[in-house]
Amino acid sequence: MRIPRRSMVRLLRAGALAIVPLLLAACSSAVGLDGPATTLEPAGDQARRIVDLMGPIFWMGLGVFVIVEGILVYTVIRFRRSPSAGIPSQIHDNTQIEIAWTIAPALIAVIIAVLTFRTQVENAVLPRNALHITAVGHQWWFEFQYPEQGAEGKPLLTATDMYIPVGQPVIVTLKGHDVVHNFWVPRLAGKVYMIPGKVNYLSFTAEEPGVYLAACSEFCGEGHALMRFRVIALSSDQYNQWLSQAKVAPAAAASGPGALQGDPARGEAVFLDPKRQCATCHAVDGTDAKGIIGPNLTYFGSRTTIAAGILPNTPENLARWLHDPNAIKPGNLMGRVIKPEWVQQNLSEQDIADLVAYLHSMKLSVDLPVASK
Ligand code: CUA
Repeated sequence: MRIPRRSMVRLLRAGALAIVPLLLAACSSAVGLDGPATTLEPAGDQARRIVDLMGPIFWMGLGVFVIVEGILVYTVIRFRRSPSAGIPSQIHDNTQIEIAWTIAPALIAVIIAVLTFRTQVENAVLPRNALHITAVGHQWWFEFQYPEQGAEGKPLLTATDMYIPVGQPVIVTLKGHDVVHNFWVPRLAGKVYMIPGKVNYLSFTAEEPGVYLAACSEFCGEGHALMRFRVIALSSDQYNQWLSQAKVAPAAAASGPGALQGDPARGEAVFLDPKRQCATCHAVDGTDAKGIIGPNLTYFGSRTTIAAGILPNTPENLARWLHDPNAIKPGNLMGRVIKPEWVQQNLSEQDIADLVAYLHSMKLSVDLPVASK
């Protein structure tokens, strides 16, 4: 069959157009609050081994593509129909060729399998000198427990921002609270499931300080796409500075003008007032608020983001969240109680400003790394 020139041009144009959305998708995927979190720029040993595995597989794939397409294009041109020739000689069965095209792909598959197993084994090692952190996936936020760093047998708790030291291996024990979630920090390590009733482990070492964007990578319900977190990798000095501050419960809030003209001391009273419900779900170390349904809010002022990594932690955003959580993250647990009607009856504008001032007043003094990906 001879393809008319115009059809050929149309075909090529359609092919080129089909590639454009793919390229655009590659650019826009995983773009979060602060830039792309790309697996192609590893900043941790585990992610680096995964990229190193991708290299040889990509080049072998490219080799296969060039050889197969080369033979195809050559055949199409060399043996195209010509008006003078009759029916070409009919051939079938060539044992040698058939053996060759069975063995060659099998060999490539074996090489890929060996390389993959090697990477999997290397990435499954749990080092002895590691820092242990337990990460729990909730609908829809991440909780982080530091079992070795707590007091009185209780782990140090935080949420949404996971602090780690650079250069020291970390073993993350992964658990699911309600449904299956997935822990993924693209620049540091591969994805691992967080499954209720089962414990998984992940180990990696951050190679450079940074704020690494991370996300839940398994569909877990309505808020899945809004379930993010950040891994904050600090130099060991800075990490120890963070730890020594985070271990001590915040002092009682002082009176005075705070964020959005609120008063932190009054905000603390509102927070602890049973009628206002905050302490039913949330805890703040050193106070009577001991709720465990929502994130522990100790040193909330130091969180980089709110609502599980989707909004910068500004007083304005926090006030928006307190007015109507459902408008920001539909389906979330807090939004089932804190509805606009409920807020109108139970919280004045001043109460909300005071709450914002209180939560923002609990702040650690640790400089965060600027590099933000
Ligand atoms: Cu949690 Cu998706």
